[in-house]
Amino acid sequence: MLRLSYEDVFERVGALTELVTLAGSVAQIMRIARDPSGTAAKLAAVISRDPALAMKLLSTVNSPFYGLRRTIETIEDAVVVLGFSEVERLSLAISVMKHFSARTIRGQAVNQLFMHSLVCGIAAETLVECFQLRGIDSDDIFTAALLHDVGKAIIWQAMPDAAREVMAVMEGSHLSQFHAEQEVLCGANHCVVGAWASGEWNLPTSIIHSIQMHHTPLEAKNDVPLLKVIHIANAACYHLGFPAVKTKTAPPTAAYESCAFLHGNETFMQGFRTRYEAKRALFDSLA
Ligand SMILES: [Fe+2]
Ligand SMILES: [Fe+2]
Repeated sequence: MLRLSYEDVFERVGALTELVTLAGSVAQIMRIARDPSGTAAKLAAVISRDPALAMKLLSTVNSPFYGLRRTIETIEDAVVVLGFSEVERLSLAISVMKHFSARTIRGQAVNQLFMHSLVCGIAAETLVECFQLRGIDSDDIFTAALLHDVGKAIIWQAMPDAAREVMAVMEGSHLSQFHAEQEVLCGANHCVVGAWASGEWNLPTSIIHSIQMHHTPLEAKNDVPLLKVIHIANAACYHLGFPAVKTKTAPPTAAYESCAFLHGNETFMQGFRTRYEAKRALFDSLA
């Protein structure tokens, strides 16, 4: 029965060179995309430093999803055509997907977690629109949702042995992934790991906070609307058929129970379906 100490967990996470690479591109892209004095040339220069990201970004921009009439040949052109926010979202999705596709993760699990993260983003945006929620920076919603479970990908990558043990504990019990991680990682879990990494990447505080508390929002000291949205959107993903991981048992969380009403809310479901259909082609071109 494998158990890692809290210190072991962070020693292994800290040794991951991939986190530094992801930090280098994503944090800088977000900073420039959100800087009022940032220019398309500056943003393009940062993206171009990561050739794999730049290539994937160009092929996605030229995919049928965007339906552009002419071929976009440079990153700067892509920034001008799509806008800063869309390029930020796209770059993040590509970088995270790349990160999720680590060799240590089984192919099916990669897709499952990535789809869960993307659907969480769609559900979160739909919740904000449908219930007219205020006080949330619209640029943060998709980013926070996309990254809310990034700690799971990091755990898979940094400690595949422990990740397999977490799965075994889940399969042999009624524990959720969060609680199985707490047992195997001696109190650590994907929320604290994800929050640690996003702190290293200098992401906005509200996003770090949402990643850290998305399973325990009642323990949050401050009232952060973004956290509530991510918490509910995450639970909604299970009702919508996009769990982060397939298990025999339903996730035994209060949030899961309390989100059942969304399934019967026609405005929410309609908004979700429309958004999901619109993004389907984008998922295909990213995968
Ligand atoms: Fe989670
Ligand atoms: Fe999740």
